Amino acid sequence: MSSDSLEALRTDAAALLARNRRVSRGFRYTVPSPRTYPYQWLWDSCFHAIVLTEFDVDAAKDELRSLITAQQENGMIPHMVYWERGDVINFDWGVEGISSITQPPMLAYALWTVYQKTGDHSLLAEIYPAIQKFHDYLLRDRDPRGNNLAGIINPDESGEDNSPRFDYLLDLPPVHEWGENMRRRLELVAQNKVCNFDAAKCMRNFFWVKDVPFNAILAENLGIEGLIAEVLGERDAAQRAYDRRKDIARAMRVRMYEDGLYWSTYGPEYERIKVKTWHIFSPLFAGLLSPEEAGRLVENHLKNPDEFWSVYPIPTVAKDEPSYQPAEMWRGPTWIGINWFVYQGLMRYGFIEEAAHIKDRSAALIELSGFREYFHPDTGEGHGAEDFTWNTLVFDMNGRVEFTRNLENLSIVTPAPAPLTK
Ligand code: GLC
Repeated sequence: MSSDSLEALRTDAAALLARNRRVSRGFRYTVPSPRTYPYQWLWDSCFHAIVLTEFDVDAAKDELRSLITAQQENGMIPHMVYWERGDVINFDWGVEGISSITQPPMLAYALWTVYQKTGDHSLLAEIYPAIQKFHDYLLRDRDPRGNNLAGIINPDESGEDNSPRFDYLLDLPPVHEWGENMRRRLELVAQNKVCNFDAAKCMRNFFWVKDVPFNAILAENLGIEGLIAEVLGERDAAQRAYDRRKDIARAMRVRMYEDGLYWSTYGPEYERIKVKTWHIFSPLFAGLLSPEEAGRLVENHLKNPDEFWSVYPIPTVAKDEPSYQPAEMWRGPTWIGINWFVYQGLMRYGFIEEAAHIKDRSAALIELSGFREYFHPDTGEGHGAEDFTWNTLVFDMNGRVEFTRNLENLSIVTPAPAPLTK
């Protein structure tokens, strides 16, 4: 893609982010898509804060501030905040003004990105307690047996609502109607109301999944929690966060890793869900593989045209899975947000060319089909929501390898605990 086209896209991205910004009760946030997703979402707001550091740092800070107002007494941060109720996704979650489920914890990463750009120490101090409390919640209420893996109580908590990773648990075949999938997930919400969102009970009775990306993201964000604590002069808290990161990394190795791939698990015995989706690359993002393992993963799976190396990579589900449906939301299409995770993971391990290819193809998708929610991995056709903000993440695919350098020594596969100075 030419640098002129990329520049034009940059102008459009800035305009989209500004257009989707809202102010409610004195707080600013960005809606992912005005017509389809007109509220605030948890991991979306983290993505917004990250990319807004490229466009409008004050808006990036406000995104985090508005998000943490919704934190609950127990530390949970809901995946949706209804600043103003509208007609769409207007569900009764059993609580006022918010949803009662969460999403992958990207808050520390987002805060650290803003801090790196601005050096705003007071912002770190302002947001850090909410991050600590959220991570505590995930490792307490979502890990009642103390096995160092956080559970999710609904597929939507993974951020990949109808991913085939969850079909078996929802008792659905590899190919089914979207409405049927939605009905099953809403049933879970109703069941969770019955168990009063007591996560341990909900998991035991209804949906008990330890998801790979959720835990990889948690591990990475715990490492960053540690970095933030160090900057704030809280050495003990920092050490605790680093230890927790290692505990999760180890638990993921033991419970999820098999023949080079990590698998999500279900139930008390950690049975593996052998559905090959993009999740197999999420451990790259968190540094949970050795360089050799990462090399094999990239060669055998990422660059395999029968799996993930499509015309516009990467499909969210491997092309050789029976559930692969290239135009069906989380069942195959390419999402730029997912490409962003894969890009960062590839950069972390030095796969510069592959990362550059993913960035280039991501930008090409937006140029071809606009700011759509997801795209056909071979034709590039756009689907789902319009004016979708995640696509702006292509402007955070800019090779900031230094970002994670401090965390390298925390990797489970090279576990030399070095002092962290930043
Ligand atoms: C969809 C996505 C979810 C996202 C939300 C708002 O539900 O699956 O990940 O947070 O839309 O963009």
